[in-house]
Amino acid sequence: MQLVVEKASSIKGKITVPGDKSISHRSVIIGSIADGITNITGFLPAEDCLSTVKCMELLGVYIERITETELKVHGVGLKGLKEPDDILYTGNSGTTTRILPGIISGQELFAVINGDASIRRRPMDRVVNPLRSMGAKIWGRYGGRFVPLAIKGSHLKGIKYDLPIASAQVKTSLLLAGLLADGVTEITEPFKSRDHTERMMTLFGADLEIKDNLYKIRGGQSLKASRIDVPGDISSAAFFMVAALIVKDSSLLIENVGVNETRTGIIDVLNKMNADIKLLNLEDVSNEPRATIEINSSQLKATTIEGNLIPRLIDEIPVIAVAATQAKGKTIIKDARELRVKESDRIAALSSELKKMGADIEELEDGIIINGPAILKGAKVKSYGDHRIAMSLAIAALVAEGKTTIEDAECISISYPSFKDTLYSVANW
Ligand code: S3P
Repeated sequence: MQLVVEKASSIKGKITVPGDKSISHRSVIIGSIADGITNITGFLPAEDCLSTVKCMELLGVYIERITETELKVHGVGLKGLKEPDDILYTGNSGTTTRILPGIISGQELFAVINGDASIRRRPMDRVVNPLRSMGAKIWGRYGGRFVPLAIKGSHLKGIKYDLPIASAQVKTSLLLAGLLADGVTEITEPFKSRDHTERMMTLFGADLEIKDNLYKIRGGQSLKASRIDVPGDISSAAFFMVAALIVKDSSLLIENVGVNETRTGIIDVLNKMNADIKLLNLEDVSNEPRATIEINSSQLKATTIEGNLIPRLIDEIPVIAVAATQAKGKTIIKDARELRVKESDRIAALSSELKKMGADIEELEDGIIINGPAILKGAKVKSYGDHRIAMSLAIAALVAEGKTTIEDAECISISYPSFKDTLYSVANW
């Protein structure tokens, strides 16, 4: 499928964005191993989260779909998962692929995990290795670096482990494995990654010790089902935040967006870039903060993004790069080597496609340098099968002269099936 986007004259209106992807995955996974029924509202009905739902169903969990965004998960308890009679197919979802081994390794079952072509290229040893030191029996291609993975449930014991790279997926997998293990599991990470798992485990009654970037969990604690209302995804809102900033004469309200501090790096960076952004109506629901975000078009200036800021905005770097093409000066993004092993090699994808539109971009091993402002022109560009690359290019197209055609844009439904409708509802041509 192609997505065609033309230059816009303004972005105006009031929107909401679909549920947070990270929280939606976790609500189903944690709800599945809790005691009782977890009621979820605001669930993200996109391909990635539906992969998680299907995997948990294959593992014997009954998940009632009341509406597309409302689910009831009938938890089976900590060790109640059943042996699946088919392969657990995780599609394009790295989160599902890396968290599942954490909850499966300590169950009495045998399971095989596989995913799509992108998942089959992404590193899994970051979760397989520490799980093996806990006693997990996991086999996979290249010694366990790549899926398919085969897992034979076994007895797990707590370990001390220092994550070499900050990763919420790995942290989550190990914390959940820690619940199923004997003794205490102690994890540290170099920088703090998103903390939705910790917040949700606490909401479900787990006693989790957290000190800065150190996490300790005692095995054998049961989780009690809860109610989760998922806030809108700041990673989806990010596309419209940048759209309203770079298209002249724009003003936009985005309601009900999750503004957890481990995810708001984009707001901090855009503020540093001179953006007119305000957070209104702050409130806390299901142990997560949310707010309305107000954005008005602004003349942006360049900035440097590095270090501990990176995990707080890792998924937003593609659209931040688009903002940087319109900012005055040299924007430097570094310490972001992880971008090379996301749904696509995002450093290579951004450099090649934004260049086609006239951006001045230099590729670094661990980031990119962008000189702005550039006058963009419409072009034929590729998504590399990566949802966030496709949507970022659509936002760049809003300020490009003429027409931009984004090829292979169907991947947008991985995280944001209604993206095009929302874009068309706020853009004036
Ligand atoms: C996610 C964690 C991040 C992020 C991904 C979602 C999660 O990945 O990029 O889109 O839900 O835990 P890493 O754990 O690889 O940093």
